[in-house]
Formats: sequence, C-alpha cells, structure tokens
Amino acid sequence: MGGNCVKKTVIALLSVSCLGSLALVSGALADPVDEGLSIDGQEMITVAPAPSEPEGHPFDEVRSGWLYREAETRQVESDSFENPGMLNVERGEEIWNTVEGAAGKSCATCHEDASESMAGVGASYPKWDAANSRPINVELQIDACRTEHMQAEPYKFDAQDQKDLTAFIKHQSLGTPVEVDLAAGEMMSWWERGKERYYLRTGQLNLSCASCHEDNNGRYIRADHLSQGNTNGFPTYRLKQANLVSLHNRFRGCIRDTRAEFPKAFSDELMALEVYTAWRGGGLSVETPAVRQ
Ligand code: HEC
Ligand code: HEC
Repeated sequence: MGGNCVKKTVIALLSVSCLGSLALVSGALADPVDEGLSIDGQEMITVAPAPSEPEGHPFDEVRSGWLYREAETRQVESDSFENPGMLNVERGEEIWNTVEGAAGKSCATCHEDASESMAGVGASYPKWDAANSRPINVELQIDACRTEHMQAEPYKFDAQDQKDLTAFIKHQSLGTPVEVDLAAGEMMSWWERGKERYYLRTGQLNLSCASCHEDNNGRYIRADHLSQGNTNGFPTYRLKQANLVSLHNRFRGCIRDTRAEFPKAFSDELMALEVYTAWRGGGLSVETPAVRQ
C-alpha cells in the first residue's frame, strides 16, 4: 500500500483501490442524532463543550457514542429494564457483597453501601496512583483492594467478575460528567503519551485512532457509524457479543482492526490511551453500561 494513498481520508484510504477487498468505509456521512438521552428519567449529558485545558482539543463539542447508534440500540440503553447490561450490574452488586479471600472480607465490609461510597467515583478514573507512580483505572483499583485488603487473587483480564464489578462501580456514577484530574502527579506526561499514541499510525492499514474517530467521525465503516470514540459508557454491553466489553478490550479490537499487533491490557500504552481518551470525552455523563451493537 503506497504512502500517498494513505494520506488521503479514510474513504480514499479504505476504498477498493487502496485496499482491495477490505473496503471498510462506505463513505456515507451522516450526522449523529439530535436527541436527548434520559435513562429511567435521569437526563444524561450527551453533548458537552470540549474540555479547554490543555489546549488543542480537536472538536468544539464532544458527543456520546449513543448519538451514533441506531434507534433500536438507543432505545435499549434508555430503559434499565431493557438494557441487558443491567443484569451484569446486578451480578456486580452480588460480588460486592460476597466474602472472598483469606482476610474474610467483601467489598461491602469496608465500603458499605456502594450507592454512597462509590457515587461519582467512576467518573474520575483513571486517577493518579502515587504509590505505584502510574495511573490506575477501576479494574486495577479493584485488584489492588482484592490483593491488599482481602488477600484474594487479582482478576485475570476480562474475567466476567472483573467486568461485572467494574460496571457496577461505574454505574454508581450514572449521569455524572467524566472529569479526570490531570494536575495530579505525572498525569500530564501520561496524557502526552496517550495523545502521541492516539495520532500514531499503526498496522498494515497505517491508521491512527484519529484516522477513524476524528477525520472520519460521522462516516460509516462496514455497518458501523463512526463515533468520536469516547469512553463514558464502559464497560459497554455489546448486543453482538451478548456481554459486557471492557475498555481495554475495545482498544485492542480497534488496534487489531488496523492489522497491527495489539498491546497487553493495562500496559503503559493502553493506560496512557485511557487517560487521554477519558480527557477527550470530558464533560459527558457516565452511561455505564452503555449499549452498543
Ligand atoms: C479492608 C478494607 C477494604 C476492602 C475489603 C476493599 N477495599 Fe476498596 N479501598 C479500601 C481503602 C483503604 C481504599 C483507599 C485507597 C487504597 O488504600 O487502596 C479503597 C479504595 C477503593 C476504591 C477507590 C475509591 C476512590 O475514591 O477512588 C475503589 C473503587 C474500591 N476501593 C473498590 C473496592 C472493591 C470493588 C472491593 C471488593 C473487591 C474493595 N474495594 C474492597 C479498603 C478496602
Ligand atoms: C479502522 C477504524 C478505527 C480505528 C483506527 C480505531 N477505531 Fe475505535 N472504533 C471503530 C469503530 C467502527 C467503532 C464502533 C463504532 C463507534 O463507536 O465509533 C469504534 C469504537 C471505539 C470506542 C467505543 C466508543 C463507544 O461509544 O462505545 C472507543 C473508546 C474507541 N473506538 C477507541 C479507539 C482508540 C483509542 C483507537 C486507537 C488506538 C481507535 N479506536 C482506533 C473504528 C476504529
């Protein structure tokens, strides 16, 4: 594949002439819907002014991925009784209350009622973890509590319990605007690193995150309407997989789609991307568990 070909937009990029049979992007451009999302009567912020600090956000407004989904999918997310991800949240609540590990404790032993102790918490991750001098996400914070406070094993990446418990914790912030604290510790250097990774072209297709989510935001790729790639709905419930999908799984899937080697979950590379993408979608309500196709 020639470099010139790649410099054009993804339409050109992924057209038959460039990539033979791949033809990922149809080229059709469609605006996201102009609709409000209320979940069980609670209004979500699905459009927000882009964060002004640090400078250089590529969009004027950040938009929830919900606005790009089909009417049916949007409807499922707006009603907790219909949203199958809510069953995972309920499972997460059971795990919260279950004693595990040699210390004989459950999450609830220390944190009690999650609707109080975890309210707003999910909206502020990833956070600076001073003890380990790196950002920590909810999944790793759960593991830290399991190992340090419960004497239980950390979860394997994408263990069902990890996804369900993460969704349960994030769901306690439903509606709260995402806001990461970039002033803490060395968060800014991780933000920089995440930004570099975001614009780095990788794989046989030579695509960056921005090639799809910025340059071709609003276009169709296969049957998928390309969103801004915001992270406020994670873990999301994917109808196709009939299960929750974690954020690092999604990152890896997107990188794999460029025909590149994908990094390990929770690697520095993906943690930096998590910091940077959380900032890019700052101001949007947490929608966990959002529903996707
Ligand atoms: C023995 C008490 C104890 C148990 C049991 C415990 N934690 Fe924690 N947890 C803490 C303490 C103390 C902190 C403060 C930070 C730290 O020391 O890790 C914390 C912090 C957290 C935070 C971060 C809160 C914030 O404001 O950022 C989350 C999320 C969390 N715990 C989830 C859990 C989950 C989920 C479980 C069960 C798997 C659990 N914890 C079990 C003591 C506990
Ligand atoms: C080849 C195009 C392509 C590239 C490159 C790509 N993605 Fe995606 N991504 C998609 C598609 C398609 C979806 C599903 C539809 C949507 O939400 O945009 C998606 C979804 C996402 C979502 C979920 C959005 C939501 O609302 O559920 C996130 C987060 C995301 N991508 C992040 C990234 C990151 C970070 C990178 C770079 C490492 C990246 N993507 C690279 C195509 C791409």
